[in-house]
Amino acid sequence: MDKIVIEGGVPLKGEVAISGAKNAALPILAATLLAPGIHHLYNVPPLADIRTFKKVLGLMGVSFEEGKPLIVDTSRLTGWMAPYEVVKTMRAAVLVLGPLVARARQASVSLPGGCAIGARPIDLHLKGLAAMGVKIRLNQGYVEARVKRLKGAEITLDTPTVTGTENLMMAAVLAQGVTRIHNAAQEPEVADLARFLVAMGAKIEGIGTDVLTITGVNALTPAPYTIMPDRIEAGTYLAAAAITRGEVTITNAPVAAMSAVLEKFQEAGVRLKTDDDRIVVEQGGSLVGVDVKTRPYPGFPTDMQAQFMALMTLARGASLITETIFENRFMHVSELKRLGADITISANQAMVRGKKQLLGAPVMATDLRASASLVVAGLAAQGTTEVHRVYHLDRGYAHLTEKLTALGARIRRVPA
Ligand code: EPZ
Repeated sequence: MDKIVIEGGVPLKGEVAISGAKNAALPILAATLLAPGIHHLYNVPPLADIRTFKKVLGLMGVSFEEGKPLIVDTSRLTGWMAPYEVVKTMRAAVLVLGPLVARARQASVSLPGGCAIGARPIDLHLKGLAAMGVKIRLNQGYVEARVKRLKGAEITLDTPTVTGTENLMMAAVLAQGVTRIHNAAQEPEVADLARFLVAMGAKIEGIGTDVLTITGVNALTPAPYTIMPDRIEAGTYLAAAAITRGEVTITNAPVAAMSAVLEKFQEAGVRLKTDDDRIVVEQGGSLVGVDVKTRPYPGFPTDMQAQFMALMTLARGASLITETIFENRFMHVSELKRLGADITISANQAMVRGKKQLLGAPVMATDLRASASLVVAGLAAQGTTEVHRVYHLDRGYAHLTEKLTALGARIRRVPA
């Protein structure tokens, strides 16, 4: 297991290009199951989670040709199972559920089980599929799904689940009749998936809104597609530039999908300018503590909560951070406190009192975004910060140390 060693205190300078969005690439890879044939996908990020997902699809007979574009051959389906060994490491593997019941009329997918940030149930995925006629059985930790013919249904989601919306949309595109999903997730990555489905011949209205109307068609055909840039990766580099008082241009950023994040950073005193795909962080301005509450899109994303908290540890004044999406997404707090941060947790709220400086120390990554927040804090902390268990980072950040080194950070990755 590697660790990342950072000598903090260097203002970042220069330009960084954002990679393809992990949370768009995963459902889009799953959606290739819906259309037998050869798919050309552009801007697929080189991430551990993507490699894991390719393994899952490979078990079903899907083959890949690495390169730009990534070529995905879904002509032959030889299986429809997502095994526990894989799903327990990456819950997004549940995204094969919808496409498999649509294509193969059956699926056997391990229940994801919990993870560091919460129980992560999939009850809403299953309730929606059942409404479309799928017979669901739980058997030794697996969801066994069978259906003769998917039929359109009226579905209202209790909570706007992102992968739940994606699973149901992927089932609905090949169902008989019309499916309407109310209280659908509006995350940009859901819209990116919808656009890919439409490119393959699906009929979807209301893309980007909380009501998706899907009229089933008989078949889809592969279509080339370019995956949208990663707004969370962009937000993470924004936090790194801001906390080090640097001057950084973030290119290939999905600016239109980042309003809540950009506004919150500006409210905190970060000086930035944007055009349609670039964010320019300027030096100067002083960081002030601001409150933030995570919300489903278009609100402030839970995936940016930990990185924003790192920034707030060095702001003047206090910042009340409320996490409303996951029940246990403060695993980074105790590690940030090892760097000298002043944070108090009460239920789903963290009160951050800004300090003049952080002091480097060894810290432990616990989940993907928590590890990003420790890197952000380490870039500003005086002295040496060692982030252990960096395999969490590899799940969602392509070439992190190279990109930060190019911005002048004193950062290196060493075998722990
Ligand atoms: C997606 O996870 C993302 N993952 C997460 O990103 C992200 O944090 C999350 O959406 C929220 O934005 C992918 O897209 C691959 P949810 P997902 O279903 O779909 C409850 C990252 O860092 N819920 O929207 O699993 C659930 O418990 C990852 O890249 C149910 O109760 O999240 C949670 O409290 C982490 N029943 C809330 O909804 C269900 O059936 C939101 O979960 C489904 C969800």
